[in-house]
Amino acid sequence: MTARLVVAVDGPAAAGKGTLARALAEALGLPYLDTGLLYRGVGRRMLDAGLSPEADAGGEARALLPIDLARSDLRTPEVDRAASLVAAQPAVRAALLAFQRGFGAAHGAVLDGRDIGTVIFPDAPVKLFVTASVPARAERRWRQLNPGRNPDLGTLRVVAAELEARDRADAARAVAPLRAAADAVEIDSDRLDARGVLETALDIVKARGFAPGPHQRPSL
Ligand code: C5P
Repeated sequence: MTARLVVAVDGPAAAGKGTLARALAEALGLPYLDTGLLYRGVGRRMLDAGLSPEADAGGEARALLPIDLARSDLRTPEVDRAASLVAAQPAVRAALLAFQRGFGAAHGAVLDGRDIGTVIFPDAPVKLFVTASVPARAERRWRQLNPGRNPDLGTLRVVAAELEARDRADAARAVAPLRAAADAVEIDSDRLDARGVLETALDIVKARGFAPGPHQRPSL
């Protein structure tokens, strides 16, 4: 018997989940899925159709195509808000569930999002919850959108307020709210650089009996 390795990486917006999840996937030889892109794709489709993201988005979620996830305009503040609004709808979450489970089921995977360890893979052998302070997250998000430039304080305050509003909405919704699974290990990325976060995560993976390289636990 071998156990497939699913690594759940959850946490609030711009905490460094994507950076960690991508690096972990690479180190472990596993596929990576950014599940936020699914909700962003649905939000984008609603906006493009001239619909409010608060209207029923189940149809757009069921119609989501790979090409919707490859667009370059999925990380605007407008899509941030639209994604969070459609993500609160049970019909949207239901439409995206099977794809996410299927992605990790066959060979294992690293997935990042808000509910990976609580809803999508509640039995994942490794669950990480990545956090960082609001100012650090605001700066990270701004730099992602404006590479090579330096933000001013007023701009950062606006970005911070938007992040906090989105986290509040994500944590307060009735269905699959943002929260750490009871068995998740929290990693505070304020105190570590990207390499330190990756090493901490790899230590947790090893402590669960999985080794980098071959990504399956050997038979007992
Ligand atoms: O991770 P990212 O910031 O791209 O996610 C965008 C939005 O999608 C989040 O604010 C959240 O509302 C939603 N989301 C979610 N569940 C996930 C991933 C993202 O509800 N697993």
